Amino acid sequence: MSKVRNPMPQAVTVPALKDRKAAGERCVMLTAYDYPTARIAEDAGADILLVGDSLGMVVQGQPDTLCVTLDQMVYHSGMVARAAKRALVVSDMPFLSYHTGFKDAIRNCGRCLQEAGVQGVKIEGGAKRAPLIRRLVQNGIPVMAHIGLTPQSIHALGGFKVQGKTLETAEELLQDARAVEQAGAFAIVLECIPAEVAREITAGSGILTIGIGAGPFCDGQVLVFHDLLGLYDGPLPHHVRSYGAFGKQMREALTRFKEDVLSGRFPTDDEAFHLAPELAEIFGAKDKNADPASR
Ligand code: KIV
Repeated sequence: MSKVRNPMPQAVTVPALKDRKAAGERCVMLTAYDYPTARIAEDAGADILLVGDSLGMVVQGQPDTLCVTLDQMVYHSGMVARAAKRALVVSDMPFLSYHTGFKDAIRNCGRCLQEAGVQGVKIEGGAKRAPLIRRLVQNGIPVMAHIGLTPQSIHALGGFKVQGKTLETAEELLQDARAVEQAGAFAIVLECIPAEVAREITAGSGILTIGIGAGPFCDGQVLVFHDLLGLYDGPLPHHVRSYGAFGKQMREALTRFKEDVLSGRFPTDDEAFHLAPELAEIFGAKDKNADPASR
């Protein structure tokens, strides 16, 4: 009898996600970019952790995702993969990492599995990426597709705009969804498309659809970690719901720290390390209760 056993019986796997679609169960995806965000997201129940190239914007402070490099994605993906015990971890393949031919794409996607330890990759684009998706899947690399607003094409799209608003472009999205499914993608991100179109795609698809700005009829939803938790001030995109104002809370906590340092309230004697009493004598630490604020 085989001794092979699954070390994580509860782990979310690609086949398990396919079963979820069949069972009509929803799924939750969150972006994560490092060990602590991944731990928090997984503890909160995320099924999929996407190491999004949105890190270019929310972590690096860039205006878009085009600057993100493959080495950066491998670095961040490794941190997230080390944190995940149950969730499926997917690396977002950055701009130019899958555009220059099958061989480059297989090698680059393979790095994310081999070096970072993720279980799948995400690539932007619909029907035009179907041949590549097929090749990747044939080589054992699970692929999540991404259609609608594809941020790596913002210059071609003329900005961060809702896609598929005309009959013709909506029909193109339906064809894109069919093409990536037939090519073997295990899920499709639908970003910023009309809810009616997302509903039609979801109803006609045998793989999970994961929406962001695509309305309530998708099989799952994803939001960017920093948006959802309110880590930044300023207006949020129309499709984002804020579940907290943690940027404000962090600022308040750090301000209290600053005030405690400047006033001498931090650290207290209890928060310090001490010599043994006989050595402390030598250093002249006579008054344990002296007020540090008055030094
Ligand atoms: O980069 C990213 O975070 C994404 C999600 C928003 C789907 O692509």
